[in-house]
Amino acid sequence: MRFAGAALLFVCLAALGGARAASPNNPQGAAAGNDARATRSEGLAAWQQMYSVLSHPRCMNCHTAGDYPEQGDDRHVHRFHVVRGPVNFGVPGLNCATCHQRANADSAGVPGAPGWHLAPLSMAWQDLDGRIFDSAALCRAITDRDKNGGLDGPATVKHHANAALVLWAWAPGRRADGSARTVPPISHEQFVTATRTWSAAGTPCP
Ligand code: HEC
Ligand code: HEC
Repeated sequence: MRFAGAALLFVCLAALGGARAASPNNPQGAAAGNDARATRSEGLAAWQQMYSVLSHPRCMNCHTAGDYPEQGDDRHVHRFHVVRGPVNFGVPGLNCATCHQRANADSAGVPGAPGWHLAPLSMAWQDLDGRIFDSAALCRAITDRDKNGGLDGPATVKHHANAALVLWAWAPGRRADGSARTVPPISHEQFVTATRTWSAAGTPCP
């Protein structure tokens, strides 16, 4: 009897340990990401921090749903009849790189970074009326590997840590009138840390 009780207790403890190591949201346990494992609720809290950045105009102005990039904090349609073009770099004679160089040109008020172009339509984070996806819808879009360029959690961490167009959002330069463009509400370091936690939790969505 005593032996059976001890064995049962052991099985229960093992099951609890197993639940922590490989929860439904985190099938590989700690395998995703460099960091320790994170719970679903830690992952969801981290997602909300990520959403505060992803929904900011510095990101949203390139992740549009229609034919145009957007400009400014009011996200108005890009001036000078600039259009997406067949492969997101504009059209011949009016390519993005005609104006946008590899770095900000603050004297002229033109932002710049290497490889400046629009995100493809599959990576739109707003609807055709310009309404930003809510937190759940944006999370679904960014985790859909048929749409996001095949990125899993760890690849998204890398993109957020290193991609030139992401880094630009924290050093966006000045407008033609000399005023500084606004930056996302949390630092780049906090954003990468949040993405890492979200990845380690198995990229949960609200
Ligand atoms: C100048 C335009 C531009 C800006 C600004 C921009 N992106 Fe993107 N983004 C792109 C392009 C283009 C791609 C397609 C992949 C590539 O070519 O790097 C992309 C792809 C992505 C992807 C992978 C696809 C997906 O939908 O999951 C993520 C994540 C992403 N961007 C995050 C951001 C974040 C975060 C910001 C702001 C901090 C941002 N981007 C700002 C142009 C931009
Ligand atoms: C004729 C020159 C010109 C061309 C071509 C051009 N842009 Fe721009 N773009 C500008 C200028 C100038 C600004 C700055 C406007 C401001 O800050 O008010 C700007 C701003 C932007 C911004 C806004 C940055 C922000 O968050 O406020 C985005 C995004 C952008 N351009 C994307 C593109 C893309 C993508 C293309 C190619 C499809 C492109 N642009 C082609 C001149 C151009």
